[in-house]
Amino acid sequence: LMADSLFIINNYAREYFTDTLFNKEEGQNVGLSYFEERGFTEETIKKFQLGYCLNTFDAFAKSALDKGYNLEYLQKTGLVTIRNEQPADNYRGRVIFPIHNQSGKILGFGARILVKSDRAPKYINSPENEIYIKSRVLYGTYFARHAIDKLDECLLVEGYTDVISLHQAGVENVVASSGTSLTQDQLRLIKKYTKNLTILYDGDSAGVKAALRGLDMAIEEGLNVKLVLLPDKEDPDSYVQKIGAEAFREFIKENKQDFVLFKLHLSMQEVGTDSNKKSQLVNEIAETISKIDKAEDFTRQQDYIRQCSQLLHIDEQGLIQLVNKFIR
Ligand code: GTP
Ligand code: MN
Ligand code: MN
Ligand code: MN
Ligand code: MN
Repeated sequence: LMADSLFIINNYAREYFTDTLFNKEEGQNVGLSYFEERGFTEETIKKFQLGYCLNTFDAFAKSALDKGYNLEYLQKTGLVTIRNEQPADNYRGRVIFPIHNQSGKILGFGARILVKSDRAPKYINSPENEIYIKSRVLYGTYFARHAIDKLDECLLVEGYTDVISLHQAGVENVVASSGTSLTQDQLRLIKKYTKNLTILYDGDSAGVKAALRGLDMAIEEGLNVKLVLLPDKEDPDSYVQKIGAEAFREFIKENKQDFVLFKLHLSMQEVGTDSNKKSQLVNEIAETISKIDKAEDFTRQQDYIRQCSQLLHIDEQGLIQLVNKFIR
């Protein structure tokens, strides 16, 4: 079967890249030192099965073809590409992050350039294929699922390295959206383990906007959404490496805020004294509140109505009526 073949190839590549990282001179000098400089321990590197792809034209491609793997399938995984009419390594000179499914099989890879450049993308990710459907995958689920279940909370970050650094710091209930906005399928995946979602995003506005886009969908899925904003220019990886595991966990605890109220605060700043904009905002908030499943979470919906009407200086009964208009 096609899917089986792709899994087998990905597993072969994962072993090949790990072997290169630990046992080849270039792997050690370039790849391993890169991870070490980023503060990843050997234990962490092994747990996440990180690797390195040699900076050659086709060392991996040759080895895989010698093994008898099919060129068409190798291309499908994104590991091999055709350059100058020759099979060539797509991730050459990059460190490798395997992307696991919930049972630990490899769906694809993220491959990071070592030195940022204007000429090449920072990450090359596997293309979509029969086994890797990006809208359904969250990076780190395989490593996080038990902790998410136990703690009844899922932390959501943006990147591979955020997940890895947090694990190393003992924060294991964490998955990454890999830089895209959340999809319905990803939210359903989270909901299999917990209803409590906490988003840890960069303090920069792009991070916040990406998070906001996921809000209504998350609430529609019946999730309780919290937000932790990180200090300017920091992501979870850089920040936990900077302040240490214990201080980071404390920071999350102290800075967790309700996402609906956060959105309201943010919008109120934008609206200012414009009354048209304000009534539009009241509508939007009513719609968001209406999506909280009443049967499942009646007190939570009531709490929001009370808090939002106070914040907006509007009548509570009026807001209730507006909310009800959105409930079909
Ligand atoms: P580091 O720079 O290694 O710390 O990675 P990061 O995770 O902090 O990167 P960033 O915050 O810029 O992006 C978050 C996530 O978006 C990454 O982990 C990737 O999954 C994805 N991403 C970042 N840059 C690229 C890119 O150039 N191309 C693609 N396809 N995805 C990217
Ligand atoms: Mn559970
Ligand atoms: Mn960012
Ligand atoms: Mn980042
Ligand atoms: Mn980063």
